[in-house]
Amino acid sequence: MKNNEKASERGGFGSRIGFILAAAGSAVGLGNIWRFPYLAAKYGGGVFLLVYIVFAITFGFALMLTEIAIGRRTGKSVIGAYKAVDKRFSPLGLLAAVIPALILPYYCVIGGWVLKYMSVFITGGGEEASTAEYITASGESVPFFSNFISHFTQPTVFFIVFLLLTSVAVFLGVEKGIEKVSKFLMPVLLLLIVGIAVYTLTLDGAGEGLKYYLLPDINGFTPAKFLQTIAAACGQLFYSMSIAMGIMVTYGSYMRKEDSLESSVRQIEIFDTVVAVLAGMIIVPAVFIFSGGDRTSLNAGPGLMFNTLPKVFAAMPAGQFIGAAFFILVTLAALTSSISLMETVTAVVMEKFGFSRTKSCVIVIFVTFILGMLSVLGYSAWSEIKIFGMQILDFFDFITNNIMMPVLAFLTCILIGYVVKTKYIEEEVMIGEKRFRSKILYNVMIKCICPICMLMILLTPFVTDI
Ligand code: PFF
Repeated sequence: MKNNEKASERGGFGSRIGFILAAAGSAVGLGNIWRFPYLAAKYGGGVFLLVYIVFAITFGFALMLTEIAIGRRTGKSVIGAYKAVDKRFSPLGLLAAVIPALILPYYCVIGGWVLKYMSVFITGGGEEASTAEYITASGESVPFFSNFISHFTQPTVFFIVFLLLTSVAVFLGVEKGIEKVSKFLMPVLLLLIVGIAVYTLTLDGAGEGLKYYLLPDINGFTPAKFLQTIAAACGQLFYSMSIAMGIMVTYGSYMRKEDSLESSVRQIEIFDTVVAVLAGMIIVPAVFIFSGGDRTSLNAGPGLMFNTLPKVFAAMPAGQFIGAAFFILVTLAALTSSISLMETVTAVVMEKFGFSRTKSCVIVIFVTFILGMLSVLGYSAWSEIKIFGMQILDFFDFITNNIMMPVLAFLTCILIGYVVKTKYIEEEVMIGEKRFRSKILYNVMIKCICPICMLMILLTPFVTDI
């Protein structure tokens, strides 16, 4: 294949808004909708919100800008991009390719669970999802969610459907697939979340929940808890903004040179943070009303979304309808994120092996299917298997989010801050611009604050249980 043909297969975004919505689509995902609200509830409501927003506009901004600028400057997928920045740092490219390849399978398995809930609510089965109890082979009584994931067939089918839905956009390419899909889905997502938030806030007693969510509650805030809050906000930012998984480098490589990097990054961040804050305005007051003010119901993990929320919807007027709208919203958010994960891996296969987009995509689907099945089986036939005490899915989540991603981000800061120097990024930011408004902030972040935060994320799981 000739070089220019290859370049055209690689593709690029056709508009600035297309790029922003696609990157925001990647950032807005399960992290915003279930992870952010429960962390906010756990770490003093407004205190967490405040710390998070400060981090988003400082450290999150610097990391996202770095990745997008590396992508746009090199015009390559992650493997080629890190190599082009500095040959000695080539292994970082490999790490940045392995991370999304490991996340995509389990993300699609969870996407399948969300799809299942969406179909249950749309077909009027919300009541069942919230109250039904099932008797297992060992005579135990378990709720709908545990029963669903402990089977093999249904989670597999929903996983495959979600994986195939994801691949449609990637098959179609950057402009005709990812950009088109994002331009349609992201406004729908925004409308849905605003609509559901407005509805929830009109319910009786929502005001108390909202106060709990928005007002800083420093009761019981010891210095240790404050440090934990900072580490949790750092980790969440990382997770939420799709940083250190190769995605932003890949999307950056498709970005047009004439579009402003600095303001695009700001807009992506605003989109992501607004959706996270709105998700909290739905979940915290709703759970608060339902539980009669019991804060422990806002506990972590999939339990909140798959066990507690269906109960909340069942108890709420027009809950069946609101539940359906909510799970459509979560499906869309998860879909645009998994598209970005798949595109990152596909771009690597295309570039590394010189395969066509279609062939690369088929290979990625196949490998994702095999790896994803490990997670599906981890809850059913292989539920006895534990890796370092973790279920298979949790293990994939742990090694990527708690180890590989902070390591990649830390080394990227070293590469940019001390090896090629921040000038490398500044030159890219300055294309078509009069000045780099956040230049000083950017330098301080990349050279000092970001590496410290990364080390903190790396160390906290081993020091405290946050
Ligand atoms: N940023 C997305 C989210 O908040 O869900 C996507 C994502 C985050 C994917 C973390 C995977 C992951 F481990």
